[in-house]
Amino acid sequence: MSNSIPNIEAGSSPAAILTAGIQAAGGNVSLACSFSMEDVVIIDIAHTAGLTLGVFALDTGRLHEETYEVAEALVERYRLSINWYFPRHAEIEALERTKGLFSFRESLENRHECCRIRKVEPLSRALKGVNGWVTGMRREQSVTRSDLKSIELDELNGGILKINPLVDWSERQVLDYTNEHNLPKNRLYKQGFRSIGCAPCTRAIALSDQERDGRWWWENPENKECGLHKR
Ligand code: ADX
Ligand code: SF4
Repeated sequence: MSNSIPNIEAGSSPAAILTAGIQAAGGNVSLACSFSMEDVVIIDIAHTAGLTLGVFALDTGRLHEETYEVAEALVERYRLSINWYFPRHAEIEALERTKGLFSFRESLENRHECCRIRKVEPLSRALKGVNGWVTGMRREQSVTRSDLKSIELDELNGGILKINPLVDWSERQVLDYTNEHNLPKNRLYKQGFRSIGCAPCTRAIALSDQERDGRWWWENPENKECGLHKR
């Protein structure tokens, strides 16, 4: 396994970033897929370029039905094999028994606890044994992502490569690619959702809002990460 970041010229295409990242990692790279438009675009780009890319998804237990429908559409369209990861059941049982089903609304600490159990711990298992992982993150999405690089070293996960092929893309570019290629798209986007995570922590917003304003809408923008992308 290599842990050196390849040189990526500014303005490189997502396919070029993906190819360079997979090569630098020595293969064995997986996409973390939340079934967002971004993640589906990446699957299509990898497929078109003939790249070998694993796909895993973290089923938090609180996802929308509409999100599972996208997963099934991808399985059908690409003959995709999705590696699903679930939270440790004992931790979820303890959380729900002691704090109820909506503890994450009560404090930032409780929210981080829920995200840790439902997302971050399963992610750490998903990343065991891979040389690199791919995300659909873009710089434009939020203040917490404005200095994102196309390829980074993920020190928190053993120094593997973290590849963000759409780092420079706008929301509009993602939408255009999705429509041009007739890709499966979460039905919630039509209802005003612009960033989709767990159902109780995601809501529809206006076009004039910031892209991630519908995520954890009761929190400040600088807190809006769940721990998957701590840097
Ligand atoms: S989050 O950290 O706030 O949830 P966001 O929804 O913007 O992140 O998604 C950014 C990227 O994180 C996605 O493109 C995907 O790569 C990864 N990701 C987010 N949620 C999941 C999930 N449930 N399963 C797998 N990957 C995910
Ligand atoms: Fe829990 Fe909400 Fe985080 Fe999902 S997004 S893991 S429901 S706090």
